[in-house]
Amino acid sequence: MRWTSPTPNGYTLGLMSSPASRTDQLPDPAQLNVPDLIQKKRSGQAHSAAELNTLIGGYTRGEVPDYQVAAWLMAVCFQGMTAQETGDLTLSMARSGDLLDLSSLPYTVDKHSTGGVGDKTSLVLTPMLAALGLTVAKMSGRGLAHTGGTIDKLESIPGWRAELSEEAFLRQAREIGLALVGQSSNLAPADGLLYALRDVTATVDCLPLIASSIMSKKIASGAHSIVLDVKVGAGAFMKTIADGEGLARTMVDIGRHAGRNVRAVLTDMGAPLGRLAGNSLEVQEAIATLRGQGPEDLHQLCIELAVEALTAAGFPDDARARAEATLQGGSALAKFRAFVAAQGGDPEYVDDPALLDVAPGRAELNAGADGYLLAIDALSVGRAVLALGGGRERKGEAIDHGVGVELLLRPGEVVTVGQPLLRVYHRQERGLPRALELLRAGLLIGAERPDVPPLILGRIG
Ligand code: URA
Repeated sequence: MRWTSPTPNGYTLGLMSSPASRTDQLPDPAQLNVPDLIQKKRSGQAHSAAELNTLIGGYTRGEVPDYQVAAWLMAVCFQGMTAQETGDLTLSMARSGDLLDLSSLPYTVDKHSTGGVGDKTSLVLTPMLAALGLTVAKMSGRGLAHTGGTIDKLESIPGWRAELSEEAFLRQAREIGLALVGQSSNLAPADGLLYALRDVTATVDCLPLIASSIMSKKIASGAHSIVLDVKVGAGAFMKTIADGEGLARTMVDIGRHAGRNVRAVLTDMGAPLGRLAGNSLEVQEAIATLRGQGPEDLHQLCIELAVEALTAAGFPDDARARAEATLQGGSALAKFRAFVAAQGGDPEYVDDPALLDVAPGRAELNAGADGYLLAIDALSVGRAVLALGGGRERKGEAIDHGVGVELLLRPGEVVTVGQPLLRVYHRQERGLPRALELLRAGLLIGAERPDVPPLILGRIG
């Protein structure tokens, strides 16, 4: 199959295109003088699309060594990239592997969160979107370090599996409007290689590299509309609103460059989202939200993202009321049930989420003073879940789906000495002392009522 340019509905290829058939059309790396490219970026000049294609294609095929790309990455960190270059770099990375062609499906939409704690939004939002007539045919990741992954959460439901053939994936997306699988190992492989190199060369924290990394995978995943939830705060990659806005704007621009409709919402991640963190616990909270009985912040975020998705797909009229109706009327819950069953999960657990395996051990952390709860640091909660065994330090590690943390109070609420603030769900005290230590350090009580930031910090699109 031959590589062709992006169209509004994705790439005009067969179902999946193989990378070999595309990279053979790139300029010959033998003609590429990599030191010249490094020098060019070091002196602040912009690369052409052909130069970036050659560099990224050559690196993906193992023809350009790590040490040259490491020097180039550092030059990018110091000199930055123009919007055109960032878009071209993203397309080169997206084209380095499989490109999923979703053009046979109606109104395809994808969602990405830059990673938070207790963030079970995808479990609620994706069936809402399916109930609204959009199609979600999505690849999702597993959790790493303190952030959880949608696939891990769904695997708390006995029988549910993340592996589907391409044919079954597309059929399910067409019939139910929702199919969700693990990320293909050949999705934007250039990103995997570059990320590993960035990790060991202090070049992760660089806006055009972060934006191109995220968007290359989204563009290769094929959806026409993409909604981004850019988290800001202690538990997030972006610590300030200004940094979050910069990332969101860059990713929206990349989407335009690639012919996709991208909208972004900036959301607070100072405290975890909702009241529960940990895989089974988050599925329980997601199902409560699908029943219209979820915590206010999670409910609000899902509505906001659904409004953005409907707007991106070209259906802005009455978007808020229509999104709300999917939660109040049960249509999103029905989609979730059908989706779980289609991927081998036992729908009885959707009907009665109390059946899900939750670790039996309980420990509570009590307030040491009277006053107001100023903060529950999201990063501390994420690390506590990790210490309990609910997350993985390294790729491939097994996790305990049943452990987690429950927030009994939210920042801004009044506390009295001795009152339980957090409940820990543990298995035979594994990791419990470390989890309690992390949680204690993440709690802040003060005499003055704090200004709690709003959940929605901005919109870009
Ligand atoms: N997430 C990604 O996928 N890439 C980055 O560079 C940072 C966060």
